[in-house]
Amino acid sequence: MKYPINEVRKRFPALQRTYKGKQVVYLDGPGGSQTVVEAIHAVQEYMMKGGANLHGVFPTSIETMDKIGEAKEFVAALFNGKANEVAFGPNATTMMFHAARAIAKTWEEGDEILLTEIEHHSNIDPWRLEAEDRNVTVKYIPLNTETLTLDLSTLDQLITEKTKLVAVGLASNCIGTINDVKTISKAAKKKGAVVAVDAVHGIPHFYVDREDLGIDLLFSSVYKMFGPHVGLAMIKKELFDQLEFYKVVPSPGYTPDKMEVGTQNHEGIMGVTEAIRFISDLGQGHTMKDKIITGYEAMEKYEDYLVRPVREELRTIDGLTLYQADDSVNKTPTMAFRVDTMTPREFATRMCEDASIFLADGHFYAYRLAEILGIVDQGSFIRAGISAYNTMEEMERFVAAVKKIMKS
Ligand SMILES: Cc1ncc(COP(=O)(O)O)c(C=O)c1O
Repeated sequence: MKYPINEVRKRFPALQRTYKGKQVVYLDGPGGSQTVVEAIHAVQEYMMKGGANLHGVFPTSIETMDKIGEAKEFVAALFNGKANEVAFGPNATTMMFHAARAIAKTWEEGDEILLTEIEHHSNIDPWRLEAEDRNVTVKYIPLNTETLTLDLSTLDQLITEKTKLVAVGLASNCIGTINDVKTISKAAKKKGAVVAVDAVHGIPHFYVDREDLGIDLLFSSVYKMFGPHVGLAMIKKELFDQLEFYKVVPSPGYTPDKMEVGTQNHEGIMGVTEAIRFISDLGQGHTMKDKIITGYEAMEKYEDYLVRPVREELRTIDGLTLYQADDSVNKTPTMAFRVDTMTPREFATRMCEDASIFLADGHFYAYRLAEILGIVDQGSFIRAGISAYNTMEEMERFVAAVKKIMKS
């Protein structure tokens, strides 16, 4: 395994943290990754050197606009889109509510939208609430509880001439299942529906080609992929130009600025470029795109090397239920499980206090998924999510700690 894990770890200062005398193992990446040092420095440098608001004639304002422009170029390269299709905002959820409010203006009573049962609710409720306000029918692509994948067998019936929007996530933030976005978007396009994709759990793990996947509206969050708390949206130019966003009268009315209501988190945006550069640094090639693609390939291979033995071990532990699709299904290295003898909260507490392993418990806003699996009242899941900076030694520590707690 050629992956430069030692160099990678040096770039994440938080990995030095100890708890109760032991080095912390971070398995809470799906809730928010640790931050790469260059992104931390970029935030600090911006604030140390002098920030400013936009549209001024003086250096700090001009630099701010240039740097935000550069961050948009990097986001464009990340998703194979264009910089003038990128808007920043506080987080992915807010961007989805904002987009839903704009796009729903084009919906009429009797129209339909199609969502999925596997989603984080940020990609359900913004669309659903707008639909309910307008008597638009909401349908769901069902979860197959046996395979833990979306059941696409009735997709062609679910999408009709009346379907205005299909919203789906790249991957489940609980069980890691990677959804077949391409098949869903192809079916949507045939009927003229727009496709909104929640990329939040996908982008820390694999390359997302907006064009190849047929995505019209893409939403993501930089704090899940090694950077600061910044949300982003990338919307196809033709669609973006047509959308009327709720905004204050004097703010820009053109794409993409019209979506950026109020003053943005400029210092946070300074870290976006560096977060993306971390991924491209793992790759090779002459163009940024080549580096990003090969960087993701290196990361995916490494994460797969880490997660495989862990999944195998967890499957053999008596009293532990692992919620993972089988090996034929592509997954991120995010594992959800439950144990018979403890609630997820008790288990997560023991992992933290006994083994200095930080992992989270709950439904992680994939509420419908947890509800369908019938575990909401029992604390839902324990989630262990592997990130690009974890090590095999940490995996061994994790498995040993699970076994020890189960025995005690
Ligand atoms: C898959 C997925 N979608 C959306 C979100 C919401 O992102 P944000 O916190 O940026 O609103 C999350 C956050 O956990 C997520 O995991």
